[in-house]
Amino acid sequence: GDNTFKYYSEGEWKVSTSGKSVPIINPTTRKTQFKVQACTQEEVNKVMESAKNAQKSWAKTPLWKRAELLHKAAAILKDHKKPIAECLVKEIAKPAKDAATEVVRSGDLVSYCAEEGVRILGEGKFLVSDSFPGNERTKYCLTSKVPLGVVLAIPPFNYPVNLAVSKIAPALIAGNSLVLKPPTQGAVSALHMVHCFHLAGFPKGVISCVTGKGSEIGDFLTMHPGVNCISFTGGDTGIAISRKAGMIPLQMELGGKDACIILEDADLDLAAASIVKGGFSYSGQRCTAVKVVLVMESIADTLVKKVNEKLGKLTVGPPENDCDITPVVTESSANFIESLVMDAKKKGATFCQEYKREGNLIWPLLLDNVKPEMRIAWEEPFGPVLPVIRIGNAEEGIHHCNASNFGLQGCIFTKDINKAMLISDAMETGTVQINSAPARGPDHFPFQGLKDSGIGSQGVASSINMMTKIKSTVINLP
Ligand code: G3H
Repeated sequence: GDNTFKYYSEGEWKVSTSGKSVPIINPTTRKTQFKVQACTQEEVNKVMESAKNAQKSWAKTPLWKRAELLHKAAAILKDHKKPIAECLVKEIAKPAKDAATEVVRSGDLVSYCAEEGVRILGEGKFLVSDSFPGNERTKYCLTSKVPLGVVLAIPPFNYPVNLAVSKIAPALIAGNSLVLKPPTQGAVSALHMVHCFHLAGFPKGVISCVTGKGSEIGDFLTMHPGVNCISFTGGDTGIAISRKAGMIPLQMELGGKDACIILEDADLDLAAASIVKGGFSYSGQRCTAVKVVLVMESIADTLVKKVNEKLGKLTVGPPENDCDITPVVTESSANFIESLVMDAKKKGATFCQEYKREGNLIWPLLLDNVKPEMRIAWEEPFGPVLPVIRIGNAEEGIHHCNASNFGLQGCIFTKDINKAMLISDAMETGTVQINSAPARGPDHFPFQGLKDSGIGSQGVASSINMMTKIKSTVINLP
């Protein structure tokens, strides 16, 4: 009635005893759209306890039955596409079409995970001892993959559903229980997604969702002794979590400053289209967005002209109208983006468009002739602003890419596959895309960042493996 959503614990929807709620501000209207429960530490303790208890019998539930439940949840999730997408539009201002795509992609990811899980976890190894020097064939080693226990999933605002299920599904198929702490912006979309798992009939405690202020329950959750694995996607908070977390496996996907290197022989129409899609979809609020263009001087004018023509065609406005550029997630985010733009202005960058902002809405902006002393050459705006740095040779591009403290993805545009491979090998990033913009998907591809961009690898198989441990039994013959 009052638009305050309940949290999900022990298979039930509950109101927090705190009597407090957290408002979710609609980025477009900048008014409170929804509220979620401000859970207490005691309530977190309860969730952890039930997750721990539920995990024991969940791990003993036959693998095929776990897969069946996940397939069911995936189907229900897809059936709920419309209301969840509407939530995403209101909570994070994701363009309507992209919001619907996120839900379908999530359903597909859950199903894929169920299928991959039965295969990965349906096999173990059998080793014999006499391959190792000094041994007779007197030891038989049998291995299988066992769950870790309770997995804590913390997804970011930009994919509150998809980057939640990319953690939930592998955890559950592997026999772990899962506690979700959704981002504040996106919490209601996430709760609705959890409702789909509830409807699918998962045993109580196998999946839970606590909401609240990071400042009150964030550290308490990540440092909780009941947590056996953390899968986090987001910003600098991830670095802080990794310093404080206990001796448990961590999967971290943090920021990126994905470089796009354009060589002289590149297909410039393809490059321009990829830069606009890669740099400006969801208004640049993707860790895999193109965040710096490194273009050879001789073709820079032509490329910049092509990019600007395309930028001129982008629609700017509310997500309900499915505009290409929509308000960024919070006012503080818009202020941060603006600070990078002003810094570049002061230091002499070429503004290809006039800087324009209304509330959280920032018009797409290309900054040419960016120099290394400008903050935007290194920092990620997470907004619709893209710097262009002109380079004299490929090495300069590689050097700029590798000088970053981030190392998520990068891309190269050239028709010369040999050059592309050499540059790819030289770039210190988790993935390099040849002739396309950076992207995480398809979601079964491994996805990982070097340096401050992350720990471990995501992707369906990588995540399932990461959320299990090898257990062996050795039969010793007399
Ligand atoms: O924001 C980080 C996401 O992992 C990027 O995913 O490449 O599908 O947009 P995406």
